[in-house]
Amino acid sequence: MEVALKTGYRLIDTAAAYLNEREVGEGIRRAGIPRDELFIETKVWISDYGYDATLHTFDKSARKLGVEQLDLLLLHQPLPSAFDRTLEAYRALETLLADGRVRAIGVSNFMPEYLQRLLAVASVVPAVNQIEVHPYFQQTALQGVHAQRGIATQAWSPIGGITSYRGMEKRSFDDPTLLAIARQHDKSAAQVMLRWHLQAGRCAIPKSVKPERIAENFDVFDFQLSNDEMGAIDALDTGVRGGPEPDSITLEQYGRSIPEA
Ligand SMILES: NC(=O)c1ccc[n+]([C@@H]2O[C@H](COP(=O)([O-])OP(=O)(O)OC[C@H]3O[C@@H](n4cnc5c(N)ncnc54)[C@H](OP(=O)(O)O)[C@@H]3O)[C@@H](O)[C@H]2O)c1
Repeated sequence: MEVALKTGYRLIDTAAAYLNEREVGEGIRRAGIPRDELFIETKVWISDYGYDATLHTFDKSARKLGVEQLDLLLLHQPLPSAFDRTLEAYRALETLLADGRVRAIGVSNFMPEYLQRLLAVASVVPAVNQIEVHPYFQQTALQGVHAQRGIATQAWSPIGGITSYRGMEKRSFDDPTLLAIARQHDKSAAQVMLRWHLQAGRCAIPKSVKPERIAENFDVFDFQLSNDEMGAIDALDTGVRGGPEPDSITLEQYGRSIPEA
Protein backbone atom coordinates (compact mmCIF):
# COMPACT_ATOMS: atom_id res chain seq x y z
CA MET A 1 0.00 0.00 0.00
CA GLU A 2 2.76 2.45 0.93
CA VAL A 3 4.60 1.64 -2.31
CA ALA A 4 1.38 2.19 -4.31
CA LEU A 5 0.67 5.54 -2.65
CA LYS A 6 4.28 6.66 -3.14
CA THR A 7 4.04 5.64 -6.80
CA GLY A 8 1.02 7.89 -7.25
CA TYR A 9 -2.05 5.67 -6.85
CA ARG A 10 -4.86 7.46 -5.05
CA LEU A 11 -7.87 5.12 -5.32
CA ILE A 12 -7.96 2.34 -2.74
CA ASP A 13 -10.51 -0.42 -3.20
CA THR A 14 -11.24 -2.73 -0.32
CA ALA A 15 -14.25 -4.60 1.10
CA ALA A 16 -15.58 -5.74 4.45
CA ALA A 17 -15.40 -9.31 3.16
CA TYR A 18 -11.67 -9.03 2.39
CA LEU A 19 -11.12 -8.73 6.17
CA ASN A 20 -8.23 -6.30 5.56
CA GLU A 21 -9.85 -2.91 6.25
CA ARG A 22 -7.84 -2.44 9.45
CA GLU A 23 -4.54 -3.09 7.64
CA VAL A 24 -5.61 -0.82 4.77
CA GLY A 25 -6.34 1.91 7.32
CA GLU A 26 -2.90 1.44 8.87
CA GLY A 27 -1.24 1.67 5.46
CA ILE A 28 -3.11 4.89 4.70
CA ARG A 29 -2.03 6.45 7.97
CA ARG A 30 1.60 5.37 7.54
CA ALA A 31 1.79 6.84 4.03
CA GLY A 32 0.85 10.28 5.41
CA ILE A 33 -1.03 11.42 2.29
CA PRO A 34 -3.66 14.09 3.11
CA ARG A 35 -7.08 12.46 3.41
CA ASP A 36 -8.65 14.70 0.77
CA GLU A 37 -6.16 13.48 -1.84
CA LEU A 38 -7.28 9.87 -1.41
CA PHE A 39 -10.32 8.08 -2.77
CA ILE A 40 -11.25 5.28 -0.37
CA GLU A 41 -13.93 2.81 -1.29
CA THR A 42 -15.19 -0.30 0.44
CA LYS A 43 -18.06 -2.75 0.07
CA VAL A 44 -20.84 -4.08 2.26
CA TRP A 45 -20.91 -7.90 2.45
CA ILE A 46 -24.20 -9.80 1.89
CA SER A 47 -24.30 -11.00 5.52
CA ASP A 48 -24.84 -7.38 6.57
CA TYR A 49 -27.67 -6.59 4.13
CA GLY A 50 -30.88 -5.09 5.51
CA TYR A 51 -31.41 -1.44 6.50
CA ASP A 52 -30.12 -1.43 10.09
CA ALA A 53 -27.35 -3.97 9.54
CA THR A 54 -25.99 -1.97 6.60
CA LEU A 55 -26.01 1.28 8.59
CA HIS A 56 -24.07 -0.56 11.29
CA THR A 57 -21.60 -2.10 8.84
CA PHE A 58 -20.69 1.40 7.68
CA ASP A 59 -19.58 2.14 11.26
CA LYS A 60 -17.57 -1.11 11.37
CA SER A 61 -15.78 -0.33 8.09
CA ALA A 62 -15.17 3.36 8.82
CA ARG A 63 -13.73 2.55 12.25
CA LYS A 64 -11.44 -0.17 10.90
CA LEU A 65 -10.27 2.14 8.12
CA GLY A 66 -9.89 5.02 10.59
CA VAL A 67 -11.90 7.49 8.50
CA GLU A 68 -14.98 9.59 9.21
CA GLN A 69 -16.26 9.55 5.67
CA LEU A 70 -15.93 7.13 2.75
CA ASP A 71 -15.56 8.31 -0.84
CA LEU A 72 -17.59 5.40 -2.22
CA LEU A 73 -19.56 2.61 -0.59
CA LEU A 74 -20.76 -0.33 -2.71
CA LEU A 75 -23.05 -3.31 -2.21
CA HIS A 76 -20.62 -6.15 -2.98
CA GLN A 77 -23.14 -8.43 -4.71
CA PRO A 78 -26.84 -8.62 -5.37
CA LEU A 79 -28.41 -11.33 -3.23
CA PRO A 80 -30.96 -12.85 -5.62
CA SER A 81 -32.51 -15.14 -2.98
CA ALA A 82 -33.14 -12.16 -0.67
CA PHE A 83 -33.39 -9.25 -3.05
CA ASP A 84 -35.63 -7.31 -0.66
CA ARG A 85 -32.75 -7.27 1.80
CA THR A 86 -30.45 -6.08 -0.98
CA LEU A 87 -32.85 -3.20 -1.64
CA GLU A 88 -33.04 -2.37 2.07
CA ALA A 89 -29.22 -2.32 2.14
CA TYR A 90 -29.22 0.12 -0.76
CA ARG A 91 -31.76 2.29 1.06
CA ALA A 92 -29.27 2.43 3.95
CA LEU A 93 -26.58 3.59 1.51
CA GLU A 94 -28.95 6.38 0.41
CA THR A 95 -29.33 7.43 4.05
CA LEU A 96 -25.54 7.42 4.55
CA LEU A 97 -25.20 9.56 1.43
CA ALA A 98 -27.86 12.02 2.61
CA ASP A 99 -26.12 12.22 6.01
CA GLY A 100 -22.75 12.96 4.38
CA ARG A 101 -21.13 9.81 5.78
CA VAL A 102 -20.29 8.69 2.23
CA ARG A 103 -19.61 10.87 -0.80
CA ALA A 104 -21.01 8.41 -3.34
CA ILE A 105 -22.82 5.06 -3.38
CA GLY A 106 -22.93 2.22 -5.84
CA VAL A 107 -23.05 -1.51 -6.46
CA SER A 108 -20.84 -4.34 -7.64
CA ASN A 109 -21.57 -7.42 -9.73
CA PHE A 110 -25.10 -6.23 -10.52
CA MET A 111 -26.15 -7.87 -13.80
CA PRO A 112 -28.77 -6.09 -15.97
CA GLU A 113 -31.81 -7.73 -14.36
CA TYR A 114 -30.84 -6.75 -10.82
CA LEU A 115 -29.67 -3.33 -11.86
CA GLN A 116 -33.06 -2.68 -13.48
CA ARG A 117 -34.91 -3.89 -10.38
CA LEU A 118 -32.78 -1.60 -8.23
CA LEU A 119 -33.20 1.39 -10.53
CA ALA A 120 -36.98 0.90 -10.47
CA VAL A 121 -37.13 1.72 -6.74
CA ALA A 122 -33.94 3.62 -5.87
CA SER A 123 -33.98 7.38 -5.35
CA VAL A 124 -30.27 7.68 -6.15
CA VAL A 125 -28.79 6.12 -9.28
CA PRO A 126 -25.67 4.16 -8.29
CA ALA A 127 -22.57 6.17 -9.21
CA VAL A 128 -20.65 2.98 -10.02
CA ASN A 129 -21.14 -0.69 -10.83
CA GLN A 130 -17.88 -2.52 -10.16
CA ILE A 131 -17.86 -5.57 -12.44
CA GLU A 132 -15.43 -8.04 -13.94
CA VAL A 133 -14.04 -6.50 -17.16
CA HIS A 134 -10.88 -7.55 -19.00
CA PRO A 135 -10.23 -8.34 -22.65
CA TYR A 136 -11.58 -11.90 -22.30
CA PHE A 137 -14.80 -10.86 -20.48
CA GLN A 138 -16.14 -7.47 -21.43
CA GLN A 139 -19.88 -7.40 -20.56
CA THR A 140 -20.60 -4.88 -23.31
CA ALA A 141 -24.41 -5.08 -22.95
CA LEU A 142 -24.15 -4.27 -19.25
CA GLN A 143 -21.71 -1.45 -19.99
CA GLY A 144 -24.31 -0.13 -22.45
CA VAL A 145 -26.89 0.02 -19.64
CA HIS A 146 -24.35 1.89 -17.51
CA ALA A 147 -23.77 4.44 -20.27
CA GLN A 148 -27.54 4.99 -20.67
CA ARG A 149 -28.07 5.50 -16.95
CA GLY A 150 -24.91 7.52 -16.19
CA ILE A 151 -23.32 4.76 -14.09
CA ALA A 152 -19.53 4.53 -14.18
CA THR A 153 -18.09 1.12 -15.05
CA GLN A 154 -15.33 0.18 -12.64
CA ALA A 155 -13.41 -2.85 -13.90
CA TRP A 156 -12.28 -5.47 -11.41
CA SER A 157 -9.61 -7.93 -12.55
CA PRO A 158 -8.86 -5.26 -15.17
CA ILE A 159 -5.71 -6.99 -16.43
CA GLY A 160 -7.42 -10.38 -16.34
CA GLY A 161 -5.57 -11.48 -13.21
CA ILE A 162 -8.43 -13.88 -12.58
CA THR A 163 -7.59 -15.77 -15.80
CA SER A 164 -4.21 -16.43 -14.22
CA TYR A 165 -4.87 -17.07 -10.52
CA ARG A 166 -7.99 -19.14 -11.32
CA GLY A 167 -5.94 -21.22 -13.80
CA MET A 168 -8.27 -20.57 -16.72
CA GLU A 169 -7.57 -22.02 -20.17
CA LYS A 170 -6.26 -18.74 -21.58
CA ARG A 171 -4.23 -16.28 -19.51
CA SER A 172 -4.64 -12.65 -20.55
CA PHE A 173 -0.92 -12.00 -19.92
CA ASP A 174 0.03 -14.54 -22.64
CA ASP A 175 -2.42 -13.30 -25.27
CA PRO A 176 -0.64 -12.99 -28.67
CA THR A 177 -2.69 -9.95 -29.78
CA LEU A 178 -1.97 -8.08 -26.55
CA LEU A 179 1.71 -9.03 -26.67
CA ALA A 180 2.00 -7.84 -30.30
CA ILE A 181 0.39 -4.48 -29.44
CA ALA A 182 2.63 -4.26 -26.35
CA ARG A 183 5.75 -4.75 -28.50
CA GLN A 184 4.67 -1.91 -30.79
CA HIS A 185 4.61 0.48 -27.84
CA ASP A 186 7.48 -1.03 -25.85
CA LYS A 187 5.02 -1.79 -23.05
CA SER A 188 3.71 -4.96 -21.33
CA ALA A 189 0.40 -6.77 -21.93
CA ALA A 190 -0.79 -5.47 -18.53
CA GLN A 191 -0.02 -1.88 -19.53
CA VAL A 192 -1.86 -2.31 -22.83
CA MET A 193 -4.95 -3.63 -21.01
CA LEU A 194 -4.91 -0.69 -18.59
CA ARG A 195 -4.54 1.77 -21.45
CA TRP A 196 -7.49 0.06 -23.20
CA HIS A 197 -9.66 0.67 -20.12
CA LEU A 198 -8.59 4.29 -19.79
CA GLN A 199 -9.21 5.11 -23.44
CA ALA A 200 -12.63 3.45 -23.21
CA GLY A 201 -13.48 5.70 -20.26
CA ARG A 202 -13.52 2.97 -17.64
CA CYS A 203 -12.11 3.08 -14.15
CA ALA A 204 -9.65 0.21 -13.60
CA ILE A 205 -8.41 -1.08 -10.24
CA PRO A 206 -5.37 -3.34 -10.83
CA LYS A 207 -3.83 -5.16 -7.88
CA SER A 208 -0.26 -6.27 -7.26
CA VAL A 209 1.82 -7.00 -4.19
CA LYS A 210 5.07 -6.55 -6.15
CA PRO A 211 6.66 -3.05 -6.19
CA GLU A 212 7.92 -3.41 -9.79
CA ARG A 213 4.45 -4.39 -11.05
CA ILE A 214 2.80 -1.64 -8.99
CA ALA A 215 5.09 0.82 -10.83
CA GLU A 216 4.52 -0.89 -14.21
CA ASN A 217 0.74 -0.73 -13.84
CA PHE A 218 0.93 3.00 -13.15
CA ASP A 219 3.20 3.75 -16.10
CA VAL A 220 0.39 3.96 -18.66
CA PHE A 221 0.02 7.67 -19.29
CA ASP A 222 2.67 8.16 -21.98
CA PHE A 223 1.26 6.20 -24.90
CA GLN A 224 -1.89 5.97 -26.98
CA LEU A 225 -3.60 2.95 -28.56
CA SER A 226 -4.90 3.48 -32.09
CA ASN A 227 -8.54 2.81 -32.99
CA ASP A 228 -7.43 -0.39 -34.74
CA GLU A 229 -5.60 -1.55 -31.63
CA MET A 230 -8.63 -0.73 -29.45
CA GLY A 231 -10.81 -2.72 -31.89
CA ALA A 232 -8.42 -5.68 -31.86
CA ILE A 233 -8.65 -5.83 -28.05
CA ASP A 234 -12.44 -5.46 -28.16
CA ALA A 235 -12.47 -8.53 -30.45
CA LEU A 236 -10.81 -10.73 -27.80
CA ASP A 237 -14.00 -11.13 -25.74
CA THR A 238 -14.74 -14.83 -25.06
CA GLY A 239 -17.86 -14.23 -22.99
CA VAL A 240 -16.43 -16.53 -20.30
CA ARG A 241 -16.70 -15.17 -16.77
CA GLY A 242 -13.80 -15.78 -14.39
CA GLY A 243 -15.60 -14.93 -11.15
CA PRO A 244 -18.63 -16.68 -9.65
CA GLU A 245 -21.96 -16.35 -11.44
CA PRO A 246 -23.63 -13.46 -9.60
CA ASP A 247 -26.87 -15.49 -9.53
CA SER A 248 -25.17 -18.26 -7.56
CA ILE A 249 -24.40 -16.06 -4.56
CA THR A 250 -26.42 -17.21 -1.54
CA LEU A 251 -26.14 -16.50 2.17
CA GLU A 252 -25.91 -20.24 2.84
CA GLN A 253 -22.83 -20.61 0.65
CA TYR A 254 -21.13 -17.24 0.93
CA GLY A 255 -22.40 -15.77 4.20
CA ARG A 256 -19.67 -14.91 6.71
CA SER A 257 -19.77 -12.87 9.84
CA ILE A 258 -18.08 -9.47 9.47
CA PRO A 259 -16.29 -8.73 12.77
CA GLU A 260 -17.01 -5.63 14.79
CA ALA A 261 -14.39 -2.87 14.63
N1 LIG B 1 -16.14 -6.63 -6.70
C1 LIG B 1 -15.65 -7.85 -6.77
O1 LIG B 1 -16.38 -8.85 -6.68
C2 LIG B 1 -14.19 -8.04 -6.98
C3 LIG B 1 -13.69 -9.31 -7.32
C4 LIG B 1 -12.31 -9.44 -7.53
C5 LIG B 1 -11.46 -8.35 -7.39
N2 LIG B 1 -11.99 -7.13 -7.03
C6 LIG B 1 -11.12 -5.94 -6.87
O2 LIG B 1 -10.35 -5.75 -8.06
C7 LIG B 1 -8.96 -5.71 -7.75
C8 LIG B 1 -8.16 -6.27 -8.88
O3 LIG B 1 -8.68 -7.52 -9.32
P1 LIG B 1 -7.85 -8.89 -9.37
O4 LIG B 1 -6.86 -8.95 -8.29
O5 LIG B 1 -8.86 -9.98 -9.48
O6 LIG B 1 -7.12 -8.87 -10.78
P2 LIG B 1 -6.04 -8.00 -11.56
O7 LIG B 1 -5.74 -6.72 -10.90
O8 LIG B 1 -6.48 -8.01 -12.98
O9 LIG B 1 -4.75 -8.95 -11.50
C9 LIG B 1 -4.07 -9.21 -10.32
C10 LIG B 1 -3.19 -10.44 -10.54
O10 LIG B 1 -2.27 -10.22 -11.61
C11 LIG B 1 -0.93 -10.17 -11.12
N3 LIG B 1 -0.33 -8.97 -11.72
C12 LIG B 1 -0.50 -7.68 -11.35
N4 LIG B 1 0.17 -6.85 -12.18
C13 LIG B 1 0.78 -7.64 -13.09
C14 LIG B 1 1.61 -7.36 -14.19
N5 LIG B 1 1.94 -6.11 -14.52
N6 LIG B 1 2.07 -8.41 -14.94
C15 LIG B 1 1.73 -9.66 -14.61
N7 LIG B 1 0.94 -10.00 -13.58
C16 LIG B 1 0.46 -8.98 -12.82
C17 LIG B 1 -1.04 -10.10 -9.60
O11 LIG B 1 -0.02 -10.83 -8.99
P3 LIG B 1 0.99 -10.11 -7.91
O12 LIG B 1 0.14 -9.49 -6.85
O13 LIG B 1 1.82 -11.27 -7.44
O14 LIG B 1 1.77 -9.11 -8.73
C18 LIG B 1 -2.38 -10.80 -9.32
O15 LIG B 1 -2.25 -12.21 -9.30
C19 LIG B 1 -8.85 -6.47 -6.42
O16 LIG B 1 -7.70 -6.08 -5.69
C20 LIG B 1 -10.12 -6.08 -5.72
O17 LIG B 1 -9.93 -4.80 -5.11
C21 LIG B 1 -13.33 -6.97 -6.83
